[in-house]
Amino acid sequence: MIGGMLAIVAVTILQGAPVSADASGDPAAVKEEGGKYFDKNGNPTYKIQTDGTVDWFTYSGFRRYHSDCHVCHGPDGEGSTYAPALKDSAKTLTYDDFIGVIASGRQVVNTARESVMPAFGTNPNVMCYVDDLFVYLRARGNDALPRGRPAKREDKAEAAKKHEKDCLPTQ
Ligand code: HEC
Repeated sequence: MIGGMLAIVAVTILQGAPVSADASGDPAAVKEEGGKYFDKNGNPTYKIQTDGTVDWFTYSGFRRYHSDCHVCHGPDGEGSTYAPALKDSAKTLTYDDFIGVIASGRQVVNTARESVMPAFGTNPNVMCYVDDLFVYLRARGNDALPRGRPAKREDKAEAAKKHEKDCLPTQ
């Protein structure tokens, strides 16, 4: 009898679980605003079509990552001997924690080890694109995107144009 009840509880939990999930929740896109996609918790996420076409933010994140992060974190978010694989971090850190580390940096410096993640909080070329970086690495972490430059992408999103105008300092 008790065994039967436990079995029912277990089945209910399994049915309630999302198909795939990371620390920010189920990455499936449920909402789109001006070419930017969001999951059911309101976190930015990727949208990759069956023919491999990626959304603008995933593509932009790929480019930003390879200009500002890959020297330490390795190509394609795969990690290096010096810095962790960010495709995994995008799965284990929540969206807020992920952004927090980029803004504030983090370091472990002792006699055995020196590991320094610089703070990018005052760098608009990084901070204005943290969603792009997150979305790209989230796609990598969930195995939705293979290594390398995405072959096909959506046009530059209206949401990205507006955000750049609001976020980047005026020259
Ligand atoms: C100068 C080298 C360097 C650069 C450039 C760099 N990082 Fe890091 N980053 C590190 C190191 C080293 C760590 C691990 C810090 C520690 O030991 O706590 C780290 C940690 C992180 C973490 C936390 C990972 C986790 O799983 O806890 C995130 C997120 C991160 N970096 C994002 C970025 C992003 C995004 C960029 C590009 C905009 C970037 N980093 C550029 C060296 C770097």
